[in-house]
Amino acid sequence: MIKQEDIQNIIETARIEEVVGDYVSLKKRGINLIGLCPFHNEKTPSFTVSPVKGIFKCFGCGKAGNSVNFIMEHEHFSYPEALRHLARKYNIELDEELPTVEQIAALDEKESLFNITAFAHKHFVDNLFNTDEGKAIGLSYFKEREFTEATIRKFELGYTLDKWDDFTQYAFRNGYNIQQLEKAGLSSQKDGKQYDRFRARVMFPIHGLSGKVIAFGGRILQSDKSKSKYVNSPETDIYSKSKVLYGLNFAKNEIISKDNCYLVEGYTDVITLHQAGIENVVSSSGTSLTTEQIKLIFRYTRNITILYDGDSAGIKASFRGIDMILEQGMNVKIVLFPDGEDPDSFTRKNRSAEVVDYITKNANNFILFKTNLLLEETAHDPIKKAGLIKEIVSTISLIPDSIQRSVYSKECSSLLDISEQTLITELNKLLRKKVSKSLESEGHPEMPEVSPLTIPKQDDEIVLDEAEYQEKDIIRLLLNHGSKEFIIKGKNEENEEVDFSISVAFFIIKDIQAEGFSFKSLIYQQIFEEFVKEIETDNLPNEQFFTHHPDSNIRETAINLLSSPYVLSDNWDKMHRIYVPLEEDVKKLEISVKHSILSFKLKKVEEILTNNEKELKELNNDNEEDLILLMENQKKWLNVKKIISAALGRIIIK
Ligand code: CTP
Ligand code: MN
Repeated sequence: MIKQEDIQNIIETARIEEVVGDYVSLKKRGINLIGLCPFHNEKTPSFTVSPVKGIFKCFGCGKAGNSVNFIMEHEHFSYPEALRHLARKYNIELDEELPTVEQIAALDEKESLFNITAFAHKHFVDNLFNTDEGKAIGLSYFKEREFTEATIRKFELGYTLDKWDDFTQYAFRNGYNIQQLEKAGLSSQKDGKQYDRFRARVMFPIHGLSGKVIAFGGRILQSDKSKSKYVNSPETDIYSKSKVLYGLNFAKNEIISKDNCYLVEGYTDVITLHQAGIENVVSSSGTSLTTEQIKLIFRYTRNITILYDGDSAGIKASFRGIDMILEQGMNVKIVLFPDGEDPDSFTRKNRSAEVVDYITKNANNFILFKTNLLLEETAHDPIKKAGLIKEIVSTISLIPDSIQRSVYSKECSSLLDISEQTLITELNKLLRKKVSKSLESEGHPEMPEVSPLTIPKQDDEIVLDEAEYQEKDIIRLLLNHGSKEFIIKGKNEENEEVDFSISVAFFIIKDIQAEGFSFKSLIYQQIFEEFVKEIETDNLPNEQFFTHHPDSNIRETAINLLSSPYVLSDNWDKMHRIYVPLEEDVKKLEISVKHSILSFKLKKVEEILTNNEKELKELNNDNEEDLILLMENQKKWLNVKKIISAALGRIIIK
C-alpha cells in the first residue's frame, strides 16, 4: 500500500509536461504544449498538454487525464504501479513494505512478470561481476569487444552460467514457482526436469521505454554452428517483439535533439555506437521492421537513417521494411558500410568523429539508392528494366506528400533515363488504383485533415440539450477560472459605493445559491457541491483538487472541461461550431461569467414556467385557491424571465 501522503507528494511533484515528455516530443504552443498523440496514429499533432492545469488531452482520439493516468494508459500500469513509476522518476522514497512471495503471486500478472524479470536480471548482472566464471568468460568477452565497464553498466549487461538450471534453482530458492518462470520465458520443463532458457551466454537485457527490463537476448560465446548465435525471450505479457526497439529508452532524447534516428541491425551495433557518443540509435534486433516500430520512432522524429553492412542481399531483404517507413511519411536515408564491416566493427576501427563524418557523407536518399542499386543489376536488359520502373514507381507512390513524390519522379526519371512524363503516368495509374481501393473498402474517401485545434471533437457537446449546456458552462467556468478575481461595485458599512475584489467561484456560487437553483445533471451538481463545501471553509479548490479527485466520474468530467476552456458562447456560435477565446482578460471573463449565469438562470426559469403551465392545465377548476397561487407564481416568473432576458440582451459578445 502506498500512503496517502506519499500519493499527494507524487501528484504535486510530477509535472505533466515532464512525465509526458519522456514519451512524446512536445513543442510549445501558447501556454500549452503540443505533440503527436501516443495513443492513436496521427500525423498532425492534436495531443495537448497543459502544464498549468496538469492535464493532457488528445483532441483527435479524446484521451485525457492527469500525470498518473498518462502513465497508466501508456505503460498499461495499474494505479499503484503508475505511482511507483513516478516516485522512482522523482526519487520520492515510498514508505512501502516489500511484497512477500505470497503477495507476489497475488499481484496482478504483469507486475509479477516485471518482478521476475527484474529478479532474473539482477542475477545475471551478479553472475557477470561476482562469479569466477562470469568474470573469466563473460567479462573478458565484453572486454574483447572493447566494451568499457561504464558501457556494460549502462546497458546492464549480464551473464548466465554454464549449467542446466542455475537460475531456475536460484529462483525456486527465492520462492518462485515453475509456472511463473515459464510465463516469463526464463525456464522450461522436459521429462519432469527444469531447465534455464539462457545458459552460458552473455546477456543483453531489453528495456521498455520507461527503462524497465522486459526481455533478454543471450549471445553464445564460442562460434558453434550447431547452436544459434542468439537466444531471445519469447513473447510474454510484457514483451511483444514487434512493438519494441532495442535501445530506444537510451536513445529517445538524442533522437529528438538530433531530429534523426539511426537504425542498425544488432544489439552490439547499438552499444558500440553509444559508446562512441552516437546515441540516437536503435535496433529492431533481428526481426524485420514492423509498422509499430516505425510508429515508435515517428513520435520522436520523421527522419530515419538506416546503417547496414555492405552486403546487398541483406539490403534487398529490407526493402519491404523501408517501403513501410516511406508509407508513414518519413524520410529515409541509407548508409552502406565498406564490405565486411558493420556499424559495430567500423566504429571500433575509427574515431567517433570519423564515423559521424562517414555516415553524413554516405547517407543516400533511399529511393535514389534503390534505383541505383536495381539499375546496376538490370543494365542492358530492357525487360528487367521495365520491371524496375514499376518497382520504383510503386515505392514512390507510397510517399504521402505529393510535392515529395514529384521531386522523386523527376530525379528517378533522369537516373532511369526515361521521360518524366512516362514515370508520372505510371505513378498516376497506381495512385488512382489506390484511391478506388480505399473507396471500396471504406465506402467514402478519406476526410481531409482539419486542424484539430480549431474544431475539437467534442461529440458530447452536440447532443447536450440547452439546459445541460448551460449547466456545463457554469461548471466549466468554475473549474477554469474559479480562482481568478474581478472587481465588483458594492456598498461598504458606511453605505458608500466601493470596489470589491471577488473570486469568480464565489461570485457564481453565491449568485446561484441565492436563487436556490440546482443542477439537473448529477455530476455537475456534485462538482458544484464540492466547490460550495470548499468555499464554506474558506478554501478555493485548485485544479489539482479535481484532476486528481478520488471519484473517477468527477475527475474525468473535470479534466474534460479543463481541457476545453472555451466553449461555444451561445447558440449562433454553437450552430457554427466556433470556439471563442472569450476569457483571456479579466473584463471579458467578467462579461462571460455574467452571461453564463444569466443564461443558466434563464433556462432554469423557463423550466419552472413550463412546469407551472403543465400544472395549470392539469388543475381541477374547482380548486380556486391553488389556481390563483399558480397564476401568481406564473406571473412572477414571467417577470423574472423578462428581467433576465433584458439583462442578457445588454451583454454583447463579440
Ligand atoms: N539475431 C537473433 N538471433 C540470431 C541472430 C541474430 O535474434 N540467431 C538478432 C540479434 O538481435 C542480433 C541481430 O539479430 O543483435 C543482428 O545479428 P548479427 O549481426 O548476427 O549479431 P550481432 O549482435 O551484430 O552480433 P556479433 O557482432 O557479435 O556477431
Ligand atoms: Mn555484429
